Amino acid sequence: MKIQQAVTAVLMLAASALACAQTPDALQVRSWAAACANCHGTHGQALAPMQPLAGSPKEVIVQRMMDFKSGKVPSATIMHQLAKGYSDEQIVAIAAYFAAQKR
Ligand code: HEC
Repeated sequence: MKIQQAVTAVLMLAASALACAQTPDALQVRSWAAACANCHGTHGQALAPMQPLAGSPKEVIVQRMMDFKSGKVPSATIMHQLAKGYSDEQIVAIAAYFAAQKR
């Protein structure tokens, strides 16, 4: 294999790995979101007094998670710790999942 072909092959591999990282499949996102169900209800259908995540705008969920993650907004209990466990990409994907759920 010529060096240029090898370089092209490596670049293509890297590009597809990157594409995977950016668009995790639906099942993967659903299992990330399932980790929120203990407290926020199945598919984000919370029982009062918890606010439902289901049907909340994606941008709002992302903003809240990023604020918890960065410590900009202190959480009363646990969210600041939980939010640190997810990459920004994971947070965006999880937020999109909950935004798409019916209340
Ligand atoms: C152990 C229980 C628990 C788990 C698990 C949990 N949360 Fe929370 N969440 C809370 C509590 C309690 C609050 C209220 C703020 C606080 O006290 O930390 C909250 C608040 C939030 C808020 C802000 C809601 C609002 O109306 O301002 C968002 C968004 C959120 N959680 C998203 C998530 C996501 C996404 C996950 C899963 C990755 C998750 N939470 C997992 C307990 C939990």
